[in-house]
Amino acid sequence: MIGGATKLFGLVGHPVAHARTPQAMNALFERNGLDAVMVPFDVPGTDLARCLASLSRVGNFQGMVVTVPHKMSAIALCRDLTPRARLAGAVNVMRRVGEDAFAGDMLDGEGFVVGLAAAGHSVAGRRICIVGAGGAASAIAVALAERQPAKLTLINRSRERLLALHERLRLRFPDLEVVIGEHVGGHDLVVNATSLGLREDDPLPFDPEQIGPGVLVAEVIMTPEITPILHAVARRGAAIHAGRAMLDGQLDAIFRYFSEGGRIAVRRGREA
Ligand SMILES: NC(=O)c1ccc[n+]([C@@H]2O[C@H](COP(=O)([O-])OP(=O)(O)OC[C@H]3O[C@@H](n4cnc5c(N)ncnc54)[C@H](OP(=O)(O)O)[C@@H]3O)[C@@H](O)[C@H]2O)c1
Repeated sequence: MIGGATKLFGLVGHPVAHARTPQAMNALFERNGLDAVMVPFDVPGTDLARCLASLSRVGNFQGMVVTVPHKMSAIALCRDLTPRARLAGAVNVMRRVGEDAFAGDMLDGEGFVVGLAAAGHSVAGRRICIVGAGGAASAIAVALAERQPAKLTLINRSRERLLALHERLRLRFPDLEVVIGEHVGGHDLVVNATSLGLREDDPLPFDPEQIGPGVLVAEVIMTPEITPILHAVARRGAAIHAGRAMLDGQLDAIFRYFSEGGRIAVRRGREA
């Protein structure tokens, strides 16, 4: 039950109707007896700074999960950043650290590798191709690079974001082969880390003809559960890994980020 002392968290993105995080977080708040609620905020592209300026005046507003298209722009709104958020150039969680100040972290990459491991897939020694260079792709690239793949290939529509991600990875992981590519063929693991597949009329993020049996294709999109590219590569004999695993893999970490250090009180009547 929401009461006068309830702490408020948001899921900020555009669009947000497809989001699954509020349901999952509210279930975790409830299960742990914490007096908090997460609600979705549909905030169009350029409005995040104004939105946060207003929300920071709301005393019981404690933080938010940040999703498309705000993950990269949100970094400029954080007073403190973790090293992995700085390296990914994006945040997906922010929490209040002062009257008008928020800190940010990026948990998408950990969520992705935890999800892969839970499904029995390893990263070390594999040739990996990441399609996309946005917030999710950057976080996934950092988390995969930390786990000794044989090679990391980066592909993206816009050159600028691609080059910036390539440069950050090259500097941070000088011993890893990180290359800019054109084709997804010739890899053991291919990740669609673009937002293509979210809308019904989206083109496929890459050519499924380049994927053969034995390749694992992983997705970041959660709705639909099996995206058109996953359908297409599965028909060609590839193994598939749905986007839901990436969220499941980071829910506990998001919950800890928001609640650690007693930041959220236990609901009255639920005290030990
Ligand atoms: N499963 C999970 O837990 C989870 C977690 C985080 C994110 N996600 C999903 O991951 C997706 C990406 O999120 P994000 O935060 O990384 O978004 P983002 O920062 O806006 O990046 C979007 C990426 O998609 C590419 N893209 C978009 N439209 C395209 C088009 N028409 N043709 C080619 N490329 C296109 C962009 O390329 P450009 O650089 O050229 O624009 C960029 O690489 C979203 O669908 C989000 O829902 C899922």
